[in-house]
Amino acid sequence: MEKKSKTTFYITTPIYYVNDVPHIGHAYTTIIADAISRFKKLSGNDVFFLTGTDEHGQKVEKAAKEKGLKPIELADKMVVRFKDLWKALNISYDSFIRTTQSVHEQSVQKIFLELKDKGDIFKGTYKGWYCVSDENFLPEDVPLEGAGHKICPDCGKEAGIVSEECYFFKLSAYEKPLLDFYAKNPTFVRPPSRMNEVVSFVKQGLKDLSITRTSVEWGIPVPDDAGHTIYVWFDALHNYLTGIGYDWDISHFQKFWPANIHLIGKDILRFHAIFWPAFLMAAGFPLPQTVFGHGWWLKDKAKMSKSKGNVLDPHIILETFGEDPLRYFLLREIPIGLDGNFSHEGFIHRVNSDLANDLGNLVQRTLTMIHNYFGGKIEEMDKEDKADKKLREEFDNSRKKILEFYEDYALNRALEEIWFFINIVNKYLADNEPWKVAKDDSQKKKLGRILYQAAAALRVISYFLFPVMPESSKKIWDFLGEEKPIEDEPLSGLKFENLKLGQVIKKPKPLFPRVDLKEFLKEEDARQAPQKKEDKMDMITFDEFKKMDLRVGEILKAERVEGTDKLLKMEVDIGTEKRTMVAGVADVYSPEELEGKKFIVIVNLKPAVIRGIESQGMLLAAEVEGKATIPFFDKDILTGAKVR
Ligand code: MSP
Repeated sequence: MEKKSKTTFYITTPIYYVNDVPHIGHAYTTIIADAISRFKKLSGNDVFFLTGTDEHGQKVEKAAKEKGLKPIELADKMVVRFKDLWKALNISYDSFIRTTQSVHEQSVQKIFLELKDKGDIFKGTYKGWYCVSDENFLPEDVPLEGAGHKICPDCGKEAGIVSEECYFFKLSAYEKPLLDFYAKNPTFVRPPSRMNEVVSFVKQGLKDLSITRTSVEWGIPVPDDAGHTIYVWFDALHNYLTGIGYDWDISHFQKFWPANIHLIGKDILRFHAIFWPAFLMAAGFPLPQTVFGHGWWLKDKAKMSKSKGNVLDPHIILETFGEDPLRYFLLREIPIGLDGNFSHEGFIHRVNSDLANDLGNLVQRTLTMIHNYFGGKIEEMDKEDKADKKLREEFDNSRKKILEFYEDYALNRALEEIWFFINIVNKYLADNEPWKVAKDDSQKKKLGRILYQAAAALRVISYFLFPVMPESSKKIWDFLGEEKPIEDEPLSGLKFENLKLGQVIKKPKPLFPRVDLKEFLKEEDARQAPQKKEDKMDMITFDEFKKMDLRVGEILKAERVEGTDKLLKMEVDIGTEKRTMVAGVADVYSPEELEGKKFIVIVNLKPAVIRGIESQGMLLAAEVEGKATIPFFDKDILTGAKVR
């Protein structure tokens, strides 16, 4: 293959499963890719940014069945949700690949046949455990649980056993070539801790990989062998080739392959750092430069996922704040490799302190003063004095660092450095006190100089913020009276003093209104209420229902929780043990009338601390206008009996 030019830059996100709607975790990967892609475009690279959807496989097949849809109908619906979210987040992808597109399917079949002809794919029988949620085969050393089933070590869900005739990929033959490749390319996987993880995994030995299924209908058919479909990961990984034209626009493909960076979450590292380069080696393609494994956004210390019920819907934040504060927060709060905990407190703190105070006020104050004192147009100013020169030099220092950080994909550090400079400009204004200088007419040129400096600084600040906050940067650029789009100013031509004297500056509008945390949380609760109601209408499977351990509990003792009108603390016998529970029923029932009563309790709900008391279960009650009615039994029943 021809060598691709150094100025092209190819960046990808994982392609997302269409079993469910996107959440903040998915948005994170895509926002990182967007920021890097925009930065590379500013730097003069010819960038191709690919994202898309992973539509085949058992996970999607199962989700569609549960929703009473055909897999393709579910995929069509979800693709709209993903595309809508990317639009709302201002994601500037160049192409969106769906694995159900015929160009993709045909190319995957072609590669499959080529590898089969070469002997890298061969037929055999697979017997083992498979996790549908992760679309992954379990390692052999995962132990059997009591009842003869296995739990997926990655996601904690129950795996099923599969035994079927299938095709294997000769992964074992690539153990040494992979290790040699890692040794020669130590930054292939980033951050370095993840590279070590991959190397030690491969050193433990690689087994051949089953890459077809007979039990899954919803997949790309294996050519010339009816009944077999291609394993979803073999199918999906090849999107990185087919999405840029392999085997349908070869010159475009050759222009961009190999990828400069595959951006992924750490949960899918092995697929990208082991299987993918092995598939590519087998097919004779050059290997990607970097696989960057980012961390997870956690909520309540767990990875956000729909099945855990802890996902954050980005739409509520987007409606209230627009996309830039969310983009800023996700990229600023943590280095790309680490996990972060999403809290509204943390988010609103960043909005108020970094965006509204540090940046928003600087824009507002500077441009309003230019209006008030110069009618929006500074035409004359003093020469640069010591403080002005220092500000410009500070910019040169920051600029160097900002560029290095962006180049190194250290987006949080680039933002930190931009804020360091923003605060230097804030200090420059505080030290030079233009509002005082304005009182003396004879100092008009000095005043002009101070405000010009601040506005010129804002111009470069907004330029550097563009990859992360494109919309707000454009607004600042527009307030400054710039006519050409930000993207048209090449990074190489960016200078502090590029702001033209005499340029007409517009009256600024507030960019980032301050937000009151309590008000926001109240509003969010109100917004989520109807959604929660809707969620209750969602159908669950019998397996999901079975997960609830419902039993007959007997109240041994009950007392009011001090300082509350509604809460009762109860000691409850659940047959096998005694539990403490807190329930909001004291406004309807007195402790005395409850003692000795039996009711239904869910005993495997995670404990929650209520008013300092750990509640180790929950009673079931009907609720009308906030008041609980407990369903008691109409005949005596064994304490601890199962309820189904
Ligand atoms: N379909 C596969 C990828 C195939 S790529 C050839 C897949 N899809 S996914 O929808 O489950 O996840 C896509 C990406 O979203 C992964 O990189 C995953 O790490 C990321 N995230 C999902 N939840 C996340 C968080 N809570 N936090 C950060 N990113 C996480 O895997």
